Amino acid sequence: MQTPVPDYLQELLEDIMSDRRGHVADYIPVLAEAEPDQCAVALSTVHGSTYSVGDDDVQFSVQSISKPFVYAAALEAMGGDAVDGKVGVEPSGEAFNELSLETGTHRPKNAMINAGAITVHSLFTAASGDHSERAAAVTRFLSRLAGRDLCLDEEVFHSELQTAHRNLAIAHMLRTYDVLAEDPHDVVRGYTAQCSVAVTVKDLSMMAATLANRGRQPRTGEQVVSPWVARRTLSVMAAAGMYDGAGSWLTSVGIPAKSGVSGGLIGALPGQVGAAVFSPRLDVQGNSSRGIRAFSRLSADMGMHLF
Ligand code: DON
Repeated sequence: MQTPVPDYLQELLEDIMSDRRGHVADYIPVLAEAEPDQCAVALSTVHGSTYSVGDDDVQFSVQSISKPFVYAAALEAMGGDAVDGKVGVEPSGEAFNELSLETGTHRPKNAMINAGAITVHSLFTAASGDHSERAAAVTRFLSRLAGRDLCLDEEVFHSELQTAHRNLAIAHMLRTYDVLAEDPHDVVRGYTAQCSVAVTVKDLSMMAATLANRGRQPRTGEQVVSPWVARRTLSVMAAAGMYDGAGSWLTSVGIPAKSGVSGGLIGALPGQVGAAVFSPRLDVQGNSSRGIRAFSRLSADMGMHLF
């Protein structure tokens, strides 16, 4: 590709903004008030440069994009065997909020669906006293990946807690099977806080670039997680990051990725770049419609398909 990156990104932004398909998430009351046409794209290289266009300073809640990072945190803190004992690495082929437990073991099928992410949150924050300490531990870890101090969006946190019935039901089922060892209510409060951490598209591209850079934050130089943890996390993102759309995503776009209901979408190409898109218009699977269009183009124009 001959076009300079900023010009290319500007053209990409204009292209995806012409697509008005999809609707903002409404099962979390405050997300229903999101501005549907906000849109931003960012690319961060493993050498520490970030290029961004559009609403790149707008903060939004990280939501499910926190899941691969907290999975990495738990792997780093506890080791693979301890985490694997509680959560699998198989695609579920089902929506993010289905229970999707393995037959026999009752482990959630992977850490990208809510059941797996609630379990992983509980593992990583088990030493914390209550949900606010859990939230602080996760926020500190996500901040190291972003390379700046992140904060909780209290409005999103309280709004999501009001309607967290389904996650509470999932957590109670996990407690029944002894997958979860702690109080389901406190764990869901902590997990909801995790999803409410506020980020920009630039933060997300830098966090993705840290995974692409074998766990080393490209700007601060900190080795946040080991190369093995980064590789494992990217592998699970490739298999399950797009939920029941993971297979067609890997086939057509070919980049390990993770989406969130507030409209974020990240992708990481090992050894090269982290990328992020923010656009709250979602498709039926709960993934950002413009985000998918942007990544489809990045994959084709910049030869980012892994295979
Ligand atoms: O637990 C939930 O339902 C939300 N906090 C996160 C869901 C989400 O982002 C799904 N991703 N597309």
